[in-house]
Amino acid sequence: MRKIVIAGNWKMYKTQAETQEFLQGFLPHLEETPLGREVILCPPFTDLSILSKSLHGSLIQLGAQNVHWQEYGAYTGEISAPMLTEIGVRFVIVGHSERRQFFCETDATVNLRLKAAQRYGLTPILCVGETKQQRDAQETESLIITQLEKGLVDVDQNNLIIAYEPIWAIGTGDTCEAAEANRIIGLIRSQLSNPNVSIQYGGSVKPNNIDEIMTQPEIDGALVGGASLEAESFARIVNFKSV
Ligand code: PGA
Repeated sequence: MRKIVIAGNWKMYKTQAETQEFLQGFLPHLEETPLGREVILCPPFTDLSILSKSLHGSLIQLGAQNVHWQEYGAYTGEISAPMLTEIGVRFVIVGHSERRQFFCETDATVNLRLKAAQRYGLTPILCVGETKQQRDAQETESLIITQLEKGLVDVDQNNLIIAYEPIWAIGTGDTCEAAEANRIIGLIRSQLSNPNVSIQYGGSVKPNNIDEIMTQPEIDGALVGGASLEAESFARIVNFKSV
């Protein structure tokens, strides 16, 4: 059975004090959240510990935004899977387009990070998606198939979430049409050996478009950036209305 998974990617936003403030506003809304929805917060590393303590017993699960493939070593600025699991992290975003674009992440390093996450019991959220130029050049399908082929070598599809995030839709307010996101997510599913992998849509998901996005049959949830930073708007997304 495919699970519904709504994840907030806080990117490089929120101090610990801001995180506490967010929780005060957000947690009461979870009382209205229908059963069976998985809610994940992926804050900066410095907020993980405080969230881990505050979230005990709540519906929210913790995710990180990156993981290195070694257990430890001389890798300045990186973080390892055991460091994350020790403080209660269960999920990790891998291959986000901002990592690919600004930090030289490649399909090969994405693959190493996915395998390392799984080795330590983390569930990775693999991000794939095309640029505007690639879309205009009709390269969307082939690019995504390549990202999956290279990224998923020797990856266990029983412990995996995928997010389709068209880069032109991220942080731009220019959401991908729900039907088009559904089509690409169907294509992604057709490339997988496990049909039960949850596949999210990400890219300018907001309170005013989440209901429509979630009516699409192939879409199993959302990876939310900007709109996950504010308690009320993330709560509305998590508590989307299914028709
Ligand atoms: P956005 O970001 O919701 O702000 O477009 C999505 C993401 O980068 O995961």
